[in-house]
Amino acid sequence: MEITADSTSGSVNRPEAEPPIILLPLVPSAFNAVLDMRKPIIAANWKLNKGPSDTEDFIRGFESKLADFPKGVDIVLAPPFVSLVKATELLSQSRVRVSAQNMSEQDNGAYTGEISAFMLKEIFVQYVILGHSERRSIYGETDAIINAKVLKAHEVELKPIFCIGETLQEREDGKLEKVLRTQITDGLKDVTEKQMLDTVIAYEPVWAIGTGVTASPQQAQDAHAFVRSVITDLYGISVSEKVRIQYGGSVKPGNAAELLGQKDIDGALVGGAALEVSSFADLIKNGVPE
Ligand code: PGA
Repeated sequence: MEITADSTSGSVNRPEAEPPIILLPLVPSAFNAVLDMRKPIIAANWKLNKGPSDTEDFIRGFESKLADFPKGVDIVLAPPFVSLVKATELLSQSRVRVSAQNMSEQDNGAYTGEISAFMLKEIFVQYVILGHSERRSIYGETDAIINAKVLKAHEVELKPIFCIGETLQEREDGKLEKVLRTQITDGLKDVTEKQMLDTVIAYEPVWAIGTGVTASPQQAQDAHAFVRSVITDLYGISVSEKVRIQYGGSVKPGNAAELLGQKDIDGALVGGAALEVSSFADLIKNGVPE
């Protein structure tokens, strides 16, 4: 017999005609566990693509397909800074959320070219991608800088999409777990338990980003399980089982179902395949069955 948790009333419904069954006692923690299943989150990282007019074109096309999408998935678009206002205006009544791709750890002052967390809040941005491997490798962002940004994002209640991942060399040298543990421990230093629950982790093996090479579902699952075990070490199991961990790196409509079907993969951070409405829409539909 199916038992459903009604998230609006908080009650548990079951059909009346069937014989009584023994339910697990719904002590508060068990009840919360029922309600707090990890909702998948799929985010489009547009990188250095789509100014305001391309952003508007995409959103108008995408919104027209939204009715077909499964309800049980959070959808996020991350345009470049100059397109964020356009995106938040167009999506103000939508279920689709808007993310920045980066931000400064500073509040204001003599930091030419930077954008603060407060500025992003002011234009109704809700997420921010931090620590993407391109920020790490091209712009020299260290775990300490990324940590300062993560803490700043939480200070203003922006949700970080915190990216981690190993290079091919690191994987081949057997350093996968060491690299991930360091990135997590240093990048999330001083993040509280409550803030951790509002942090999305994106595991993106660097060798799979933009290359067309995807981690196999098993490789991805193994890395995700390890990431979750590190979160367990740091925050305990009741937090780690609620933290959403996205996979990123050449996710496409054709491989989304298999990747997102893995036990510890709770969504995707998508670059190339999120640039066209049709491929991003197909990826969401394939990745999250109704
Ligand atoms: P990709 O990019 O999907 O083009 O590999 C993913 C990312 O960089 O977040």
